[in-house]
Amino acid sequence: MAPHTEQLTRPAVRLRGLTRSFDGRTVLDGIDLDIPAGQFVALLGHSGSGKSTLLRAVAGLDHEVVGSGQLTAPERVSVVFQDSRLLPWRRVLDNVLLGTDGQERGREALAEVGLAGRERAWPSELSGGEQQRAALARSLVREPELLLADEPFGALDALTRIKMHALLRELWKRHQPSVLLVTHDVDEAIVLADRVLVLESGRIGLDLTIERDRPREEYRVRLLAALGVSVGSG
Ligand SMILES: Nc1ncnc2c1ncn2[C@@H]1O[C@H](COP(=O)(O)OP(=O)(O)OP(=O)(O)O)[C@@H](O)[C@H]1O
Ligand SMILES: [Mg+2]
Repeated sequence: MAPHTEQLTRPAVRLRGLTRSFDGRTVLDGIDLDIPAGQFVALLGHSGSGKSTLLRAVAGLDHEVVGSGQLTAPERVSVVFQDSRLLPWRRVLDNVLLGTDGQERGREALAEVGLAGRERAWPSELSGGEQQRAALARSLVREPELLLADEPFGALDALTRIKMHALLRELWKRHQPSVLLVTHDVDEAIVLADRVLVLESGRIGLDLTIERDRPREEYRVRLLAALGVSVGSG
């Protein structure tokens, strides 16, 4: 049992005093954060508060940015952005497989996101929601220990977004990666995550554990308040 205990207790992501600045302006100001393996975390914050900066740091995509602090993240990390970033000159299956082999695994991943039969389509032949599903399939074939998502549903209509929420939650349950999801949307955060963080003045201003059996409205009011939006109780 000992090795398992070690795995369970060691966080997947560990940040200590993480700092990032642009042109002398501090955007992340000493962030401390542990994300346990398998936890689904949503990150809220005003536009420009540094959410994408934090995500890019965790993804290891910010070597050009000035910063300091300690950062530990798993080896297998997948990133999903607001636009699918599919390569237009490659068919859907080839996009999903990009840089990996295993046609079968690619087909399975497409089936998992409801795109079975669309393997040979071009990205331009898919709807926005389908393109995001293909992007999710592409992240899945890499069996990530950590899935980073920066407003992945931000460009989708409300109905498609609700379907994508259900899909993401289902994929997370099945594959159990740790997730760090950046979103503007308080309701999306509460529906999806087990824990919601609010980034404020370069720090984690609020760290809220979401319990599924408690009323969502309670969390909603607290999170909106943390974001500076007051909600009348009438
Ligand atoms: N490459 C860059 N060069 C200069 N400034 C940058 C760069 N990237 C981000 N910034 C600045 O850092 C701050 C945080 O940006 P970031 O993109 O992390 O915000 P965000 O919380 O993701 O915002 P949004 O919700 O609008 O996506 C902003 O003021 C932005 O102008
Ligand atoms: Mg952003």
